[in-house]
Amino acid sequence: MQENLILMEKHGRVRLLQINRPEAMNALSPELMLQLAKRIEDFETDPEVGAVVLTGNEKAFAAGADIKAMKDWSYMDVYQADFVTSTWERISTFRKPVIAAVAGFALGGGCELAMMCDFILAAENAKFGQPEITIGTIPGAGGTQRLARFVGKSKAMEMVLTGRMMLAAEAERCGLVSRVFPIAELLPEALRVAQKMTELSSPILMMAKESVNRSFEVSLEEGIRFERRLFHSSFATEDQKEGMAAFVEKRKPTFKNR
Ligand code: HXC
Repeated sequence: MQENLILMEKHGRVRLLQINRPEAMNALSPELMLQLAKRIEDFETDPEVGAVVLTGNEKAFAAGADIKAMKDWSYMDVYQADFVTSTWERISTFRKPVIAAVAGFALGGGCELAMMCDFILAAENAKFGQPEITIGTIPGAGGTQRLARFVGKSKAMEMVLTGRMMLAAEAERCGLVSRVFPIAELLPEALRVAQKMTELSSPILMMAKESVNRSFEVSLEEGIRFERRLFHSSFATEDQKEGMAAFVEKRKPTFKNR
């Protein structure tokens, strides 16, 4: 077992997770994904954690699932291990805010992992792609579904069917990425944005995240009904009382996450 495939730094209530396999372009091996899933699992119940930033290095966020590990796996190997579902999916069910800070390659499973985060901030050198088709398979961690929702059918089809990479500027234009920064500013900015979120109410952030995510699952009418119920629920929290009182009293709110 290789230790420290995911490095962790504490920045107040933000946890910075760094994918750490630089010798393999941060290829996402099963052990690495297990370490990532365990970190996320721990953060879920830790009140000291308010938000997460997930990043790689300047060359690669992650160049995909580990091809060298996967190449000889049989159908039974992947089916019985429930490959992807058992570990990768833990990121997409995390209830607290998680930002992907992407520099360099985010390919295949790397692009899919970034899309499982709540939003993507990218460096100018970021390159996104789903090149699985060029190695005889298809995206398997949500790429065909999430990319289509982010960028629409035409671009998603082109990327998935040809393996073409998209540079950061194009990714921002088509909505895959929320903002692009010079590489030196990427991490400071991601940490600043995450830090800002930790000053907000944690349960209300969870409601907001759950409500936006719901929009990808249900009809508009059902989604709005879901949002309305959560909006009403927010009035049962101490933080809603504090937030609105602070506005009226022209002071900064102090949220208690209650
Ligand atoms: C295993 C990988 C890897 C990967 C790179 N490496 N990507 N190892 N799995 N996904 C290794 C290389 O083998 C090499 O190891 C080292 O990292 C450096 O990579 P190079 O190819 O020499 O670097 P470069 O020429 O700069 O090219 C960078 C690259 C290229 C364009 C990112 O490495 C590449 O195309 N990688 C594969 C991208 C890909 O197809 N991703 C999708 C994977 S499938 P050595 O030992 O030679 O030094 C997938 C399915 C997800 O993600 C489905 C659900 C999980």
